[in-house]
Amino acid sequence: MPTAYAPAHTGRNRARSPYMEWAKCHPRVAHNLAASGMPAYTLAHFVAAGWVRLEDLELSGSDGYGYPPLQRAIADKAGVSPDWVVAATGCSMANQLAMAAAFEPGDEVLIEQPTYELLVTTAEYLGAKVRRFVRRFEEGFRLDPQEVAQAITADTRLIVITNLHNPSSALTDDETLAAVGEIARSAGARVLVDEIYLETQYSTPWRSSIHLGDHFIVTTSLTKAYGLSGLRCGWILAQPELARAMWHINDLHGVNAAYPAELLSVIAMRHLREIGEPYEKRLATNRQIAYRWLDERTEMRVARPPIGTTLFPKLWGDNSEAFCNLLRDKYEVGVVPGRFFESPAHFRMFLGAETPVFTEALARIGAALDHQ
Ligand SMILES: Cc1ncc(COP(=O)(O)O)c(C=O)c1O
Repeated sequence: MPTAYAPAHTGRNRARSPYMEWAKCHPRVAHNLAASGMPAYTLAHFVAAGWVRLEDLELSGSDGYGYPPLQRAIADKAGVSPDWVVAATGCSMANQLAMAAAFEPGDEVLIEQPTYELLVTTAEYLGAKVRRFVRRFEEGFRLDPQEVAQAITADTRLIVITNLHNPSSALTDDETLAAVGEIARSAGARVLVDEIYLETQYSTPWRSSIHLGDHFIVTTSLTKAYGLSGLRCGWILAQPELARAMWHINDLHGVNAAYPAELLSVIAMRHLREIGEPYEKRLATNRQIAYRWLDERTEMRVARPPIGTTLFPKLWGDNSEAFCNLLRDKYEVGVVPGRFFESPAHFRMFLGAETPVFTEALARIGAALDHQ
């Protein structure tokens, strides 16, 4: 299935992401449900909790392949040894390094549809021939190994999945991922699982899919679940030889990570429970409010995942764009138009806004629907 995006590789120097440009430039409104990461956790919180003092910070310090205390903290969290960990500038760079090491230009890469657009544009930028397999709205966007089996070819080198799924937040269990892993293994391909939203399991114990086999690669960051986008603390988990290849590719992108961010990331890793707790509560509250509200709204249908930061409702018509514009211009509510996820009848809405703002946003979306 061809991608619906404008081709990124009309030349590497012209690569661009329509979604990222929109995300950075769209007009901000009072009731913003266009985000997907929890609102920023602040440095003031770190200081007030007594986790850090100014004299503990330094500007320069680490100069090797990863800051050892951070490597260890990530490895402990994931249950792997540090040679399986590649620190990266956010999950964005993690995805870029993982892809760059996992295939050569001209190789085939099989990516779920719909998905986070940057996964497609990054694969194309790196010279992949991108093929797609479908995750169906009618099936709650579940990952169906049959769809993967039908789309994979002998030339496929990498299968790319988000878990939780962006945009729908659908959760894929280990059994299904293992089935996809088997399909990949028999074709000589690897599986890249972007687990950035799986971090919103917070206090529920969960295992990364890196434990499903050496041919799995996992990327994630502290951005979405913990409101720590500013630290750019992302990483890749991969089999050590492949991990070393990623470190070497990373040398081309930057000599060091920002040391103050590494120091603060180590501190954050020690306190993820405390940082995540209020976010976990807020998401649970808002999800309940959203699901009660959705019970009353017949104008849209939506998969109802148990966790995650976003929902991906489908309106009855073919195209949500005019509705998204109306929400923005008349009702001061921001949502992400579904076209950015190759699903024009949908829109993506964020569950992590402060509860009063979230409740007001739902009331406004309801008013907009009533006046359609
Ligand atoms: C699936 C997915 N991966 C990666 C990213 C980028 O993460 P980061 O901000 O840590 O670079 C996003 C951001 O929206 C995302 O949705």
